[in-house]
Amino acid sequence: MKVSVVGFGHVGSVISAVLADKGFNVIGIEKNAELINSFNKGLSPINEPGLQNLVSKNIKRKTLKLVSDISYVKKTDVIIITVGTPLNKKYKPDLKQLINTCYEMKKFLKSKQIICIKSTVPPGTTRNIISKIFNKKNVYLSFCPERFSEGTAIKEFKTLPIIIGGISKIATNQADKFWKKALKIKTIKVLNSETAEYVKLATNAWIDLNIAYANDLARLSDVLDSKIDILEVIKASNSLKKGNNYVNILTPSIGVGGYCLTKDPWFVYSIGKSNKLDLKTIKAGRNSNDIMPDYAASKILNYLKLKKIKKTNAKIGILGLSFKTNSGDIRYSPVIPFIKKLKKHNIKNILVYDPLVTKKDQKTIKVETINNYKNVIENADCIIFCTAHDQIVKISNNFIVKNVNKNAFILDGRRYFSRKEIDIFEKNGLKYSGIGR
Ligand SMILES: NC(=O)c1ccc[n+]([C@@H]2O[C@H](COP(=O)([O-])OP(=O)(O)OC[C@H]3O[C@@H](n4cnc5c(N)ncnc54)[C@H](O)[C@@H]3O)[C@@H](O)[C@H]2O)c1
Repeated sequence: MKVSVVGFGHVGSVISAVLADKGFNVIGIEKNAELINSFNKGLSPINEPGLQNLVSKNIKRKTLKLVSDISYVKKTDVIIITVGTPLNKKYKPDLKQLINTCYEMKKFLKSKQIICIKSTVPPGTTRNIISKIFNKKNVYLSFCPERFSEGTAIKEFKTLPIIIGGISKIATNQADKFWKKALKIKTIKVLNSETAEYVKLATNAWIDLNIAYANDLARLSDVLDSKIDILEVIKASNSLKKGNNYVNILTPSIGVGGYCLTKDPWFVYSIGKSNKLDLKTIKAGRNSNDIMPDYAASKILNYLKLKKIKKTNAKIGILGLSFKTNSGDIRYSPVIPFIKKLKKHNIKNILVYDPLVTKKDQKTIKVETINNYKNVIENADCIIFCTAHDQIVKISNNFIVKNVNKNAFILDGRRYFSRKEIDIFEKNGLKYSGIGR
């Protein structure tokens, strides 16, 4: 069976590489020539655990190839669409990439092809916009939201149940047959494409709101009493069963980033607005998460003030630049506004370590990283843990204790040290603070 995947970015590359590895003939159709060249050489420019191996293996055995020519969709039985659906300047969904893609491929469609949209869209898009573009083409069109998280994408793509909602019963059933055969995993057929589209948005708005709640609890914990550790509060709270499930408060951090959680709740909010509804909690969640980088930066500024360290002399070491553990994706990473805030306060000596972020991405955001964490830690006044990449978790506490400046400040933005590790820092004269700990 031949599959084409239109859009070979973070989502398209993972889906293509896994399907190719399962023996499908996969053609990736992509606009960006740099991505095509690199992937066709077997080199993944996207840092996602396991992706490089799958790409090089399947390019070599010719089950995977990339092209720019969209007419290739006509050679395939299944078309999966994963182009970007960003937020526009008015905080509304920008569907231009998706709409253009559908117009471009329209004339190459064949009767009975299975088309699955995976790009995140407002409810109604598949039926009211895409199906109308494909007018009179006898294809099986459905929406199957992609639900994996970067950093764990390959494992999740192979195991998470696939939600399927077609524009007709037969479209749902055809997509269901394909996904069951492709991944041999559970599928969840929902009533229609509108429901499937809404599932994706409802899930991401919930995650964002839940983290905002955790961040609010953490900020309160910081002012209440230094004996409270918010992670312990959350763990104990989560032991309560309510209905069929447990309370599930997520964890606080220096902020929410990435391509999905920073925009999908705004999709929901704007859809509410266009229907004359003011969805206050969705907006509050976004706003609450957006203040976290500044909040974390203020902890650094307070420490420097307390210790009378001149801001212009302070050395700040940042471990992790991407928005997510074990991913190299820096899109909307909260570490970027965090660094900006420190720079705005005249802190100049900021060194960043992130082995997963490409040089090209570093250039686009004008934050250079160094590939030796030792230089970042040595003689630092403050160390901030912004992600828990494997390479960062394995840095020994002993090394930190021995190499940072006397009485240095460890800010735990996402690495989450255990109580035992925190005791070691404190016994050695270091000051530790987490978000709410
Ligand atoms: N990143 C994630 O973890 C994730 C998870 C679930 C869902 N999603 C959703 O999946 C979609 C894609 O996200 P992404 O992170 O992969 O975006 P991305 O920007 O990394 O990838 C999209 C790719 O599509 C290409 N493209 C655009 N128009 C094209 C066309 N006409 N022909 C060929 N290629 C074209 C772009 O060049 C780009 O490489 C979005 O709707 C996003 O909300 C993303």
